Amino acid sequence: MTDVINNSTQALTDRDLAAMSVYLKSLRSEGGTNVPPYRYDPKASLAELAHPATSAGARVYTAYCMHCHAVDGKAFAPLLAPLAGNPNVLEKNASSLINVTLNGTHDLVIQGVPAPYLMPPYAKVLNDQQIADVLTFVRAGWNNGAPAVESSEVAKMRKATQD
Ligand code: HEC
Repeated sequence: MTDVINNSTQALTDRDLAAMSVYLKSLRSEGGTNVPPYRYDPKASLAELAHPATSAGARVYTAYCMHCHAVDGKAFAPLLAPLAGNPNVLEKNASSLINVTLNGTHDLVIQGVPAPYLMPPYAKVLNDQQIADVLTFVRAGWNNGAPAVESSEVAKMRKATQD
């Protein structure tokens, strides 16, 4: 998406944005209309994060992710992306999350100003199991309720996106 934001969508007029929003909202949501809306629960992950030794995912999260995405999963929007209730995190298909965790994000420039924080790449820092563990934690955390991530999915994405 970085290229799309840098070179295209930030220049859209309000009319174009409104028209695109109307179209996107007209599409059926993947979960259908009977899925209850997300409800934030700040306490949901506190116990695990207070005792990370007992949870493989919380252990990776506290060591590598928490200083940006925070204990409450809300991070510091809009500078740092929240993970609690984030529609991309709740998405059934985890490919985009696996990709961003392996490869990070690049040089976003909004109206000539570079974004101050990037998502770092973890491909050389964490193995497939650690990435699966931390994303499983994030997808279950703060009442997110999204399915677990398998290390085989991470291995597949690593193979598809690394050299
Ligand atoms: C230096 C701060 C920083 C650290 C450390 C960090 N992130 Fe991020 N993360 C970001 C930023 C900034 C974004 C938003 C990037 C963008 O959209 O351009 C982001 C985005 C994400 C997203 C995508 C959210 C979306 O809306 O698609 C996920 C998932 C994520 N981070 C998970 C992690 C995990 C897991 C870790 C630890 C292994 C981690 N992050 C560590 C800064 C950080």
